[in-house]
Amino acid sequence: MPCTSCQGLDRRTFLEQVVAILGVSGLAACSANLGTTPNISPFTVSVSSFPSLASVGGLAVVDNGAHTGDPIAVARIDATTFIALSLVCPHRGFTVQISGPGFYCAGHGATFSANGSWTGGQPTSNLSRYAVVYDAAAGTLKIS
Ligand code: FES
Repeated sequence: MPCTSCQGLDRRTFLEQVVAILGVSGLAACSANLGTTPNISPFTVSVSSFPSLASVGGLAVVDNGAHTGDPIAVARIDATTFIALSLVCPHRGFTVQISGPGFYCAGHGATFSANGSWTGGQPTSNLSRYAVVYDAAAGTLKIS
C-alpha cells in the first residue's frame, strides 16, 4: 500500500526532508551531550607552585582552592605560552584527568591532547579554554 503522505514527492524532495529530519535529530542529540558552560571567577596562580609547569609540555591541575567554579588544568605550550582548560568533560560533565601527555575522561573514555583537542574515545567536542595572561616577571598566570 503506497504512503499517502508521500504522494507527489519526487526523490530529491523526499531525500531533502529525510536529511532535514535526521539533521534536527542529530543536533538534539549533540546538544544533550554538551558539557557545562565554563564557570569560574578570575584567579592568579604562581607557576612555581606547580613543578610540572617548569617544562614545556607540562600539565598541572590548578584547582587548588584559589578559585571557585570548574576544575582547571594549565598546559605549558612553550617558554612563554600557557593555556588553561576546563576539566569538565564536554560529553557528560565528568571530571577529566591528566593522563600522559594529555587528558582522559573515565566517564566514557574520551581522550584529549594537551591543548584540549578531542583525540579519541567517546566522540565529543574539545575541552573549553580560559584566557591566560602570563606575567613572566612575577611568574604568575592570571586565568579568567
Ligand atoms: S563524560 Fe562521557 S566521555 Fe567524558
